[in-house]
Amino acid sequence: MKKIIIGNWKLNLDHLEAIQLFQKLNYSLNTDIDEKISIVVAPSHTSLRSIQTIIDADKLNIFLSSQDVSMFNDGAYTGEVSSNQLDKLNISFCIVGHSERRQHFNETDEIINVKVNNLINKEITPIICFGESNDQRTDGNYMDFLINQIENSTKGLRKDKVDEIIFAYEPIWAIGTGQNASLQDIVEVISKVKEFISKKSFFNEEKIKFIYGGSVSPDNSNEILNSKIIDGALVGGASLDVDKFIKIIESVDL
Ligand code: 13P
Repeated sequence: MKKIIIGNWKLNLDHLEAIQLFQKLNYSLNTDIDEKISIVVAPSHTSLRSIQTIIDADKLNIFLSSQDVSMFNDGAYTGEVSSNQLDKLNISFCIVGHSERRQHFNETDEIINVKVNNLINKEITPIICFGESNDQRTDGNYMDFLINQIENSTKGLRKDKVDEIIFAYEPIWAIGTGQNASLQDIVEVISKVKEFISKKSFFNEEKIKFIYGGSVSPDNSNEILNSKIIDGALVGGASLDVDKFIKIIESVDL
């Protein structure tokens, strides 16, 4: 399966800085990676339009993701951005359920589930994040917790509607800490989640990807990205540094 590498720029860069970073990334990318790897960047909402214009004008093979979407479609919801608005901008992907949103903005699995369904209706690929805290990992009950997160956030999905879904395992303790999960930890979680999802009516082997995020860097990307069961990476900090991001991309064996 084609690997996917997504740069989550989080709350960094104004639109001018985002354009600069994007241009540098574009110039540094080796053109023949397209066949084997999809590259996605997720800037802030204020930068989406500017970058999308460059992608369109130069017909680039880099895709755009939103970092979040509203659970509402329209109406009196000040400050929100809807899946319809993202769709009109030709945004291909959207991150949902990132632990930073769960933690700081009280997002629940139920809210995430509404968002996922709204995105699917607009044919935007949801990148559904799930992951356990340090306490849950040390307690040893993390697997039940993770399966529950997945179960709750994928309710109501129908195979005839679902095109592509990406599940991103992002253990909270590995995000921004420099301490990535071991390959063994990632493989354990992804295998079990994959087994669970494969029994769901919406499962489609070709279209559902399982990726990892949490302190991915050029030091660990080779091992992570060349594991057969891991379809790609969701990269935070290292995606803001083009040299590091390119090294991560280039660590995939073509
Ligand atoms: P870091 O790569 O900075 O740990 O962030 C991971 C992440 O949260 C990606 O969504």
